[in-house]
Amino acid sequence: MKARYVAGPGGQIEGELTVPGDKSISHRALMFGGIAEGDTEITGFLAGEDCLATLRALQSLGVRIERPEEQLAHGSSGYVLVHGVGPDGLRPSQAPLDMGNAGTAIRLFMGLLAPQRFDSTLIGDESLMRRPMERVAGPLRLMGANIDTLDGKPPVEIHASKGMRAIDYPLPVASAQVKSAILLAGLQSFGRTHVTEPAPSRDHTERMLASFGVEVLRNGATVAIEGGQTLRGTHVRVPGDFSSAAFFIVAGCLAAENGLLLRNVGVNPTRTGLIEMLRQMGADIRVHPHAAAGSDPNGEPIADIEVRKSKLHGIKVPEGLVPLSIDEFPVFFIAAACAEGETLVRGALELRVKESDRLAAMAQGLTALGVENQLLADGLWIRGTDRFGGGTVDSLGDHRIAMSFAIASLKARAPIEILDVANVATSFPGFVTIARAAGIQIEAR
Ligand code: S3P
Repeated sequence: MKARYVAGPGGQIEGELTVPGDKSISHRALMFGGIAEGDTEITGFLAGEDCLATLRALQSLGVRIERPEEQLAHGSSGYVLVHGVGPDGLRPSQAPLDMGNAGTAIRLFMGLLAPQRFDSTLIGDESLMRRPMERVAGPLRLMGANIDTLDGKPPVEIHASKGMRAIDYPLPVASAQVKSAILLAGLQSFGRTHVTEPAPSRDHTERMLASFGVEVLRNGATVAIEGGQTLRGTHVRVPGDFSSAAFFIVAGCLAAENGLLLRNVGVNPTRTGLIEMLRQMGADIRVHPHAAAGSDPNGEPIADIEVRKSKLHGIKVPEGLVPLSIDEFPVFFIAAACAEGETLVRGALELRVKESDRLAAMAQGLTALGVENQLLADGLWIRGTDRFGGGTVDSLGDHRIAMSFAIASLKARAPIEILDVANVATSFPGFVTIARAAGIQIEAR
């Protein structure tokens, strides 16, 4: 039987907590460290299944990586030492590279491996094998890559490159994964590559390349990179993952009578759209930055976030906030389900191609709990309620759907059983322990 959670109804949220390291930043720190000249130290690394897939793939490509704390349980400092092999040092893997559940891993590796002089095959789990890869393969082919997908999906077969050239590419959708893949290929191509975004997406790649000594040029919505630059090993300090903190930010809004403090959270402005959306709903969220703007380690701003219970009301979400909170919609929909009045999200078609179809998964789960909602082609409409029922909800193997319904239990009248939760380990190892300490009555079965 698949792993499940049972979350008891009600409860108070309080205290202080720290969430594990940022997933997007951890993937990038490993990959950039792998192709850098010299060693890269990573602290605060997220030892979740997604980033471990990236780590193992780099090892298969000949990168030596040390994790002295590997044996330590949750609570370790996440120290990783990557011995970079330099720009021409990757070697072919003997077996297909298994990216597990990780969309970021497969898409960034496409950009990293397309310019290499050897073949690579990229595969993943059942969910990843259903996700679209042509959005990356298409622009890489324009740069000269020789890549095959199967009906647009993995396995991704990358054939040895005969050399790649820069492109000037307008992204059809705001996607940090596609942008990053093109920039990584551009780094190993002839000429200057330009990528223009329709709306800002997370910019960890740009910020981190700069800390590895690579010049990344920005002009409005366009990012440019000159091919042939070499990364130099560095120290990457990974902040707490805002997307993991998001579950407790919403929990705090619903049930932290005396406040909840989240320490050491990454607050890169391309990630924090959820704070803006919740504030528009009437939430009391205070952000206490660690350093003066511009002096953050690796260019990534970090803060403590304080949340207090407040009465939320429904909103119409501005479409410009969608890419800035793309991974937070599952838990945002829980906030909307507990708000007074109606909430409408449109322009969120991308949610249909995440680890699950997150619009459908959330609509189905909310319906199971008796929350009135309407699934739209590119969004969701929800009528909030003070308390909803319990019931059984299927996470469809999607980590963020599973954790969102655990938060929903704070406002339920009866227990919520959440099915198929093993993938919570992809992004948030230790979720149950931290959630229980904060006041959620959750048990893994
Ligand atoms: C990510 C980008 C986003 C996000 C994903 C992580 C990244 O995906 O949903 O969880 O690390 O670049 P898209 O680029 O597909 O929007």
